[in-house]
Amino acid sequence: MNKPEAQKRIEELREQIRYHNYRYYVLDDPVISDAEYDQLFNELLELEQHSPQLVTTDSPTQRVGAPPRDELGTVAHSTPMLSLQSIYEEEDFLHFLDTVAQEAQGPVSFVAEPKYDGLAVELVYVGGVLQVAATRGDGFVGEDITDNVRTITSVPLRLIQSEDAPPVPGLLELRGEIFMPVADFRELNRQREADGQPPFANPRNAAAGAVRQLDSAITASRPLDMYGYALGRVEGYQFASEWEVIQTLPKWGIKIDQRNALCTSASECLEYYQQLAHRRDELPYEIDGVVFKVNDFGLQEALGVRTRSPRWAVAYKFAGRQATTRIEEITVSVGRTGVLTPVALLQPVPIGGVRISRASLHNQDEIDRKDVRIGDTVLVERAGDVIPYVVKVIPEQRDGTQQKFRLPDNCPVCGTTVARSEGDPIIRCPNIDCPAQIEGRIQHFASRQGLDIDGLGEKLAAQLVRTGLVKHLPDLYDLTKEQLAGLERMADKSAQNLLDALQASKQTTLPRFLYALGIFQVGEHIARLLADHFGSLAAIMAVSHEELVAIHEIGPEIASSIRQFFDEPRNRRVVQALLQRGIRFEQMWSTTPTLEGLCFVFTGALTEFSRDEASRLVEQRGGRVTSSVSGNTDYLVVGEDPGSKYDKARQLGVETLDEEGFKELLEGA
Ligand code: IVH
Repeated sequence: MNKPEAQKRIEELREQIRYHNYRYYVLDDPVISDAEYDQLFNELLELEQHSPQLVTTDSPTQRVGAPPRDELGTVAHSTPMLSLQSIYEEEDFLHFLDTVAQEAQGPVSFVAEPKYDGLAVELVYVGGVLQVAATRGDGFVGEDITDNVRTITSVPLRLIQSEDAPPVPGLLELRGEIFMPVADFRELNRQREADGQPPFANPRNAAAGAVRQLDSAITASRPLDMYGYALGRVEGYQFASEWEVIQTLPKWGIKIDQRNALCTSASECLEYYQQLAHRRDELPYEIDGVVFKVNDFGLQEALGVRTRSPRWAVAYKFAGRQATTRIEEITVSVGRTGVLTPVALLQPVPIGGVRISRASLHNQDEIDRKDVRIGDTVLVERAGDVIPYVVKVIPEQRDGTQQKFRLPDNCPVCGTTVARSEGDPIIRCPNIDCPAQIEGRIQHFASRQGLDIDGLGEKLAAQLVRTGLVKHLPDLYDLTKEQLAGLERMADKSAQNLLDALQASKQTTLPRFLYALGIFQVGEHIARLLADHFGSLAAIMAVSHEELVAIHEIGPEIASSIRQFFDEPRNRRVVQALLQRGIRFEQMWSTTPTLEGLCFVFTGALTEFSRDEASRLVEQRGGRVTSSVSGNTDYLVVGEDPGSKYDKARQLGVETLDEEGFKELLEGA
């Protein structure tokens, strides 16, 4: 294919892919199969790889790949992003409707929409192409989150032109809400807990954290979505009403929530509010009220704005999901990952139709900070479907019988001395054999990133523990076909398959094994780092706290967690017993310094390594890493979205490696 042909095909493919993205992510109504989509996408990728000069920032292939930043820049909003006046009482809402009616000459209509509990953002499209995305900030100046927003699949990088829509305006400032769907939030927290990372408190915090990342690859790995709901400046098209806006935006490829309504009377507004309040728990995302906006832009202008909020809109909030009740007792529960959580046992109280009798107190710091005592009257909140928690104590209700509470020094389930890490209020039971944890430990051990034991999932783990067949991880390798065949819903064939999978799992790698042990804060990444650095299990078990913290990326908390784990005699016994059952590690790659004297430069983002990691791997093998290409450079490693170093290397005839080639060199070295 010659160059003009390639260019033409690239444009065709981009247009098709854009359309299919829109069908899939925005309308949720795809018209081709995933495989057909992949084929189009791969063809585009390949063409762009052959002609890097034809890659543009709005190409559907360019969602990830920006290099990490040191800090987020700032963006001034061309018109301030106002906030909304919140109201809670029907009376106040009716008053708002009255004020509007007085200004209007005739009948008034309102657009009603859910009030999303996410993060307000502004997206600037110039000539239909996404240029800048910013947080709301203080309403005047926000943070530049462009690279991160580009990774959100439902955000169009280029607007599309539908036949029945007005032309895409030259400038369009779109405002909307980025959020994390509740189901994805729960799954993300489940994974984080399995990896020993602290869970997010609620979907809003998780979304805000993801959007404000310095490394857009992290944002890309988080499940985010966005709905548009308002406009800033627009040049090239004049909208007459809110309703016209929300009818038009989807035709340009922008995702709009379909749970909105045009209400033409007070009773319609109230009906919408009641209905949404009623369905609140069924929605796939969290909301905390309804936003009502005067539909007609002429009337909006006549009503005008206050300092920070418009007179033409309100947020009518839902009743809080809070209630007061008494703490009868505080108990300690041990989670699947060994975390000891204080739990308040409450005098049962209904909140939003659900009877609440327990609330999490999180950890000792929280108990101390809120000064929660047994016998206290407290305010409890049920947020979404997250576990209810104690918001605050009502000290006026104290009568002197209240008692302070301290978390125990021993695990209430197995008696092991609990582990505390510096600066971390969370305490945990470090015993790998703790009965409260064994089920979770088996699952984690057998997971895909761990020893990858096919067929050993949540259900079977529960069965093995319940029947007493597995009390300690090494027991897994002593299971017999007879024992397995005796379990419910376990045919001979599946019993044999499991035994085969167990046998196969003994041949593994050191990082997988370290991960599988479920050491707090040792996820896949840290496990690989440890294996790379120390080379053997024996070395890791013997390493000192100082040696650990000397490694970039390992801080004092991770270091103490690793030490505490291997200092516990029971854990050492389990590790030994596993090795005795025949677990062996393949050499991942040796650390013999065969890159001695070679000079490397990196450009663009690698998918499997951070820059630091890649540099360290080179240096461990005796190579050097510099920041710019020169005649002394031996290899330029080219990641996604390479910079000008790539052209320089070609001019100088420096050999280039893609990520695959780089890995092969490391493995061969
Ligand atoms: S409209 C001036 N619509 O409410 C009004 N805001 O805006 C322009 N919010 O922090 C905003 N859901 O995050 C609008 N359907 C919705 C909304 C919504 C949530 C939030 C937004 C902002 C606050 C004030």
